[in-house]
Amino acid sequence: MQQSIRPASRISGAVRLPGDKSISHRYAMLAAIAQGVSRIRNYSSGADCASTLGALEALGVRIERRPGEVAVHGCGLEGLRPPEQILDAGNSGSTIRMLAGLLAGHPFLSRITGDASLVRRPMDRIIRPLREMGARIRAREDRFPPLEIQGGPLRPIEYELPVASAQVKTCVLFAGLYAPGTTVVREPARTRDHTEIALREFGAEVEVCRRTVSVRGRPHLEARELTVPGDLSSAAFLLAAALLIPGSELLIEGVGLNPTRAALLDFLVSQGADIRVLRLEQQAGEPAGDLLVRHSELRGGCLEGELTAALIDEIPVLAVLGAASREGLTVRDAAELRVKETDRIATLAENLSRMGVRVETAPDGLQAPGGQRFRAAALDSFGDHRIAMACAVAALAAEGESLIAGAEAAAVSFPEFFDLLAQVTC
Ligand code: S3P
Repeated sequence: MQQSIRPASRISGAVRLPGDKSISHRYAMLAAIAQGVSRIRNYSSGADCASTLGALEALGVRIERRPGEVAVHGCGLEGLRPPEQILDAGNSGSTIRMLAGLLAGHPFLSRITGDASLVRRPMDRIIRPLREMGARIRAREDRFPPLEIQGGPLRPIEYELPVASAQVKTCVLFAGLYAPGTTVVREPARTRDHTEIALREFGAEVEVCRRTVSVRGRPHLEARELTVPGDLSSAAFLLAAALLIPGSELLIEGVGLNPTRAALLDFLVSQGADIRVLRLEQQAGEPAGDLLVRHSELRGGCLEGELTAALIDEIPVLAVLGAASREGLTVRDAAELRVKETDRIATLAENLSRMGVRVETAPDGLQAPGGQRFRAAALDSFGDHRIAMACAVAALAAEGESLIAGAEAAAVSFPEFFDLLAQVTC
């Protein structure tokens, strides 16, 4: 699908966003192995979270999709059933990596794969710890999907993550649910902690001490009624559009503001963004609130170290804002961007250069000088949802009509994106 984006004269109005993708995956998987029926309101409408539901159904979990909520009939900790076919994670790294942790604890053989992008993404990061725990796993080139997982009795491990990855942390903690004793994960940088919060909500014993997370094996997990807050990573594109276009003022209601994700807001505010949190509440241990954002001239700056890890999903749209900022944006320590849904350093640089924006790339980052203008252009998502949406934000600030090829990729996390953007664009 080719999406046309015309320049915006301003962004205004109020929007409410679909549920957070990261939290939705975790709630669905934990609900599947809990006892009883969980109700999950505002479950993410994205294709990735639908892949998780589909895979759980193929493992024997009954799921009812109702307007505004899904009901997951939990099977108990060891209640997943051997799948009759290969499980399909679609485009979703979270589905394959997190579900692998649960599959490792079940005494049957399963196979799981995904689309053309997912089968090129590294899985050795989960294969290594799961083998250490006792699972038998085969993979293409010992590294890529499809994965063949023979689960069984697991032993607890203490695992030091070689890369900061919440998906890998989650995989090991989920497998730790099946190991007698305590499984410990140490992170090189703090990553999103939705798993720790959700595990506690469902009744598991979790301890967190700085960058070390421990979970006690063999817990009794109970079904819950939960509401997923709006997705801050989806909100990031609308926030960026409002910051970029003069005269804009936008209210985004009910967004997840977990501190391990909200570094985005701190970073933008530190650059001069006018973003206010109007209301704050807790939903099952997850903070959420309303955000009011107004157009702002940003200073620009540098993303590196732990901050890069905390903002990894937002870098495509931050690079767009960086090119328009006073001093530009430098991103370092972001080699992980090379192994996302696309090589985001390459696909971002390609699109920005089509718009006449200068950007220099490095193996682990990029540098976009500030004060640049965007030229209307033929852009391409390369099948990556966040690249599609970052292109749309840049195109709003160009002088003519831009076309985004493969814009349907946005549906992976945010199917409503182009409609909502049209609603708030004047
Ligand atoms: C996610 C973790 C991050 C992020 C992804 C969602 C999660 O991936 O990029 O969109 O829900 O845990 P990594 O764990 O690969 O950093």
